[in-house]
Amino acid sequence: MAGSKGLVVVIDDDEGNRKSIEMALRKDGYGVRSFASGPQGLEYLKENGADLLVTDLRMPGMDGLEVLKVAKLHDPGLAVLVITGFGSVESAVDAMKQGADDYLQKPVNLVELRKRVAAAVEKRRLAQEVRQLRERLEEKFSFGTIIGASRAMQQVLHQLSLVAPTRSSVLIIGESGTGKELIANALHQNSPRKEFRFLPINCAAIPADILESELFGHERGAFTGAVQRKAGKFELADRGTLFLDEIGELPLALQAKLLRGLEDRSFMRVGGTETITVDVRIIAATNSNLEARVAAGTFRNDLYYRLKVLTIEIPPLRERPEDVPLLARRFFESFKAENSRPNLQVSPEVIEVLTQARWEGNVRELRNLIESLVILAGGDTKVITLEHLPENYRTPPPAPVAPRPETGQPRTMEEIEKEAILKTLEQTGGNRTRAADLLGIGLRTLQRKLREYEQAQGEGRPASDSHPGED
Ligand SMILES: Nc1ncnc2c1ncn2[C@@H]1O[C@H](COP(=O)(O)OP(=O)(O)OP(=O)(O)O)[C@@H](O)[C@H]1O
Ligand SMILES: [Mg+2]
Repeated sequence: MAGSKGLVVVIDDDEGNRKSIEMALRKDGYGVRSFASGPQGLEYLKENGADLLVTDLRMPGMDGLEVLKVAKLHDPGLAVLVITGFGSVESAVDAMKQGADDYLQKPVNLVELRKRVAAAVEKRRLAQEVRQLRERLEEKFSFGTIIGASRAMQQVLHQLSLVAPTRSSVLIIGESGTGKELIANALHQNSPRKEFRFLPINCAAIPADILESELFGHERGAFTGAVQRKAGKFELADRGTLFLDEIGELPLALQAKLLRGLEDRSFMRVGGTETITVDVRIIAATNSNLEARVAAGTFRNDLYYRLKVLTIEIPPLRERPEDVPLLARRFFESFKAENSRPNLQVSPEVIEVLTQARWEGNVRELRNLIESLVILAGGDTKVITLEHLPENYRTPPPAPVAPRPETGQPRTMEEIEKEAILKTLEQTGGNRTRAADLLGIGLRTLQRKLREYEQAQGEGRPASDSHPGED
C-alpha cells in the first residue's frame, strides 16, 4: 500500500528533480505530495501535516530556508531534509541551524536520498513513540495533576482513590513541599462535594485570637471591632471541604471546639448562643510530629486519635527518587509553554543529577528550580545542560548513611533495624551487651533478633549449607 510508510512532502521548483524524487520515494512505499513552490507546499502541510519535508533551498519567491522556518513553526517535530546547490555548504549549515535534520547536495543521488529519507522518517517515528510512551507513563502514574511512579506514591494515590468519595476526615502528613495541599485538593475534587467549596485555612499563619472567628464566625458585638455578624470558614464550607493546614499549630481551646465540630457537626459562632449545624468534610495537614505534640501536652490526645483514623503519609522526595524525572519533565513542559519556549530541551544528564539531589524543599523546590532554569535560559540556549544548574545541585551529595538498595524502593522498618543492629555489632567488635546498650534495647531483645536473622538466613539457603556438619 502506497503511503503506509509515511507521508513525504516534496517542494522543488525544478520539475525534473521533483518528479524523479517523487518516483523514487513512491517506489519505496511512501505517500508523496510534490509542489513547485514554497507557499503551495506549506499550505498543504498546514492542512494535512506530514512525516517529512524534502525541500530545495534555492527557489524563486519563497526560498527553502523560509519554507523550513514556517514549517517548523507549525510542527516543531516535522523531519526536514534540504537539498542544496552543489558546493553551497554554508546554506546547508544555515538550514541545519534552523532545525533541518539532514541535507543533500545537488545533483541528487537517488540512492542516497532514499537512505536519508528512511533515516529521517524513522527518527521522527521513534521520537513520536517516545513522546507517546512518556505521556502514557505520566497518565498511568498520575491522579489528575498528581505525579508519582514510585511505589510509595502509587500507594498514596491508591489510598486517595479509596478515601476521596467518603465523608471521613483525613490527616495528611508530610514534610514541607511534598504536596499536602495538592492531595487535599484532589480529595475534594474527587468527592461528591466537588461542586461546593474547598476552603483552606492555615492555622499557623493566623493569630490565635483571630483564628477562632475565622473558623467559626462571630456575632455582631462579640468583641471590639465585630461590627456585624460574620460567617466563619466552617459555615462557608458547608457541603464542601475545609482544609486545616498546619493543624499542629491550632491552639488547645480551638482544638476542643474543632473536636466537637467533628463529632456532632455543630458549633457556635464567637459570642453566639445558637448552635449551627453544617456538613463539612475536614482534611487536616501537618509537617510536624503530632504524636510528639500530644506527648508534650500541646495537642489533644482525643483530637489526634479522631484525626488519624485515615492518614495519608507523603514521603519526602529524596525517598522516592524515581519520581524526580517524571516531575521534572512535567514541570519543564509546563514552564516551557508558559514562557513561550516550545523548543527548549533539557539534557538527560541534568535529569540524572537532579534525581540524586537532596530536595530538602521537596517537590516545591524541584518545581521552583525548573521554573528558574527555563526563565534564565537565554534566547539562544537550545538545551539546558549541567552548566546551567546552580552549583549546589552540580556537586553530588554525600553518600547517605544507609544506602538505598538498587531498586530505589523504600525499605521496611525491619530491614533498617537489622542493618542498624549488625552495624552496631560490628562497631563493638561483636560485644552484644555494649551493642544492646548503644542501641537502647535489652540484651535479650538483641539476642532474639540475632537468632531470627540466623533462622531467616538458614531458611533461604540449600539444606546442605545450613548443616555444615554434614560435609
Ligand atoms: N506529586 C506531585 N505531582 C505534581 N506536583 C506536585 C506533586 N507534589 C507536589 N507538587 C507541587 O509542588 C508544590 C508544593 O506542593 P504543596 O503546596 O501541595 O505542598 P505542601 O506539602 O502543602 O507544602 P507546605 O507544607 O510547605 O505547605 C505545588 O506547586 C504542587 O503542585
Ligand atoms: Mg501546604
